[in-house]
Amino acid sequence: MTGNNKQRHLVIFQPSGGRGYIDKGKTIKEASQQLGVDIESICGGRATCGKCKIKVEEGFFEKYGIDSQREHLSPMEEGERQLLTKHEEQSGYRLACVARIYGDVLVSVPEESRAGRQIIRKAITETAIDLRPAVRKYYAEVPPATIDNPLGDWERLEAELNRRFNLSNLVVDYQVLLGLQKVMRQGNWKVTASVWMDREVIKVEPGFVERGYGLAVDIGTTTVAGYLCDLMSGEIVATDSIMNPQVTYGEDVMSRITYAITNKEGLRRMNRAIINGLNQIAGRAARQACTERQSILDMVIVGNTCMHHLFLAIDPAYLGQAPFTPSIHHSLDIKTRDLGLNISAGAYVHVLPIEARFIGADNVAVLIAEEPYNQDEIVLIIDIGTNAELVLGNRDKLFSASCAAGPAFEGANIKYGMRAIPGTIERVEIDPDSKEVRFKVIGKTDWNTDSEAIGAKGICGSGIVDAIAQMFMVGILQKNGRFNVGLETPRLRVTEEGPEFVIAWAYETSIDQDITICQTDVRAVQLAKGAMYAGAKLMMRHLDIARLDKVIFTGAFGNYISKDSAMLIGLSPDCALENVYAVGNAAGDGARIALLNVDKRREANEIARQVEYIELTTEPDFETEFMQAMYFPHLKDPFPHLKQISNKEGRS
Ligand code: FES
Repeated sequence: MTGNNKQRHLVIFQPSGGRGYIDKGKTIKEASQQLGVDIESICGGRATCGKCKIKVEEGFFEKYGIDSQREHLSPMEEGERQLLTKHEEQSGYRLACVARIYGDVLVSVPEESRAGRQIIRKAITETAIDLRPAVRKYYAEVPPATIDNPLGDWERLEAELNRRFNLSNLVVDYQVLLGLQKVMRQGNWKVTASVWMDREVIKVEPGFVERGYGLAVDIGTTTVAGYLCDLMSGEIVATDSIMNPQVTYGEDVMSRITYAITNKEGLRRMNRAIINGLNQIAGRAARQACTERQSILDMVIVGNTCMHHLFLAIDPAYLGQAPFTPSIHHSLDIKTRDLGLNISAGAYVHVLPIEARFIGADNVAVLIAEEPYNQDEIVLIIDIGTNAELVLGNRDKLFSASCAAGPAFEGANIKYGMRAIPGTIERVEIDPDSKEVRFKVIGKTDWNTDSEAIGAKGICGSGIVDAIAQMFMVGILQKNGRFNVGLETPRLRVTEEGPEFVIAWAYETSIDQDITICQTDVRAVQLAKGAMYAGAKLMMRHLDIARLDKVIFTGAFGNYISKDSAMLIGLSPDCALENVYAVGNAAGDGARIALLNVDKRREANEIARQVEYIELTTEPDFETEFMQAMYFPHLKDPFPHLKQISNKEGRS
């Protein structure tokens, strides 16, 4: 609480990060409006629709310097209680339009209560996969038990599966066994058995049941994306994504490790958060596919090493201290019920292996999706997330490295930066002569025009990269990232905080302010891209190569990145533009491949051990390379292929 007479209290919203001091007695909904956080409301705040549910996080959150308690809100009212489930009430949920503020609070706005739901930019590319799923279905007509032949139900089914499908040495899951007698009789001794790895019966259903599903999930530090696939056809039948609910406890890997170390309940809270999130994805994806979550028979998880540990409830403390070893490198198969995952009771979750340090199962997934180890060309893959992961090489040798890209590419630490939600600017073009700007926002197909209010809210990662690339190309920014303040254009102005360039005028926005790119924004992007470029350069030196044959940008951000803009600012060393690709979410692709093809799971384990990890921060030249790479596109390195961009006509 502040010490002034107005009695104001600190309110922080997650995951948006909106924070501010709010007058005592205001509702959470009023606070959200004041701080520009969108919370769903259908009834207009009359406490009748139940759409504005929020959750109060309890405890002292050192990162935010806030002591948040349920008692810091007004007591729950009867009408409010009726719109919450018992479980929600016990978990600290409230209605934002009812609960009033009487102390500092950290508020989580769940996905379903967000008015502007996040557009998940992890679109998956359609990749042909040889179908060899871990779970297969077998239909069996079992001879009924008789007085003369009273063999156990399991032995009967086992013998039939052996006789008809040559499946030997089968075992049965305990939960399946519990219901087996009933199912056999329900189906009149005709049943469908789901068998995992030709070893274990993990489900038995009465009659003939053809369909079964698998869920592949990429747990990103910021975004969790799930793909529900038909195990028999390989088809993606539903996709669903959420923001990683652990964001409340720390935005990046290191802050989550710190939270786990410094809070007794930290690991448990973060583990429960991700398990609940995955259950949410499973339920919603199943509904999309008009099926039940119990028909999900297999699951594959990928994620960086920290996400991997938190998912498995393994203490990540040792990841944060030398020699930075994970608990396990090899892949794992664990019963989903042991982790609290709510899909078919007998199902396993397969967790892909870890490479080294923070380079985890998500990078292994990228490898099996892109297969640089099967190529002659030298490929550089940059998986851009809060942490950037790089792979370089070909069939002869592969190196990997990771570097902190920072949150700039996710819109954080940028003055008007936002995550990719409807209304954020995602594309920018600047006329080289007039320096006039046109832009496009997420959710609208057309670019802005004078005749229609476009209502931009902010600018997301791909828009930031576009804006800076264009500002550099038309001379607003110099090679060193400084503004060319001598340029004559009303969009370029110098404020007390330094120069800035107007991307959208206030009348084109929904926030009544000009959306600008300022010097600190440019600096944040320079730091991020400098780290990635320096990493790639040092890896090229290790491989003793001077040029790249192919560059692949992937990740939540890589999916929508303009490859021209990426090369213009020097996100990677030079490469022929026709050999630069933005492939969408390769980690998601890899998770799906592992879900549908068990051979790829074996391949993943082999390849994870072959990649050689390079620790960039201890490389003697890293600092020098990093400083040089902060320039656009680089202080010294030539970019002959950039001529292709400047020669382009009719950009669209
Ligand atoms: S806005 Fe409808 S219940 Fe709160």
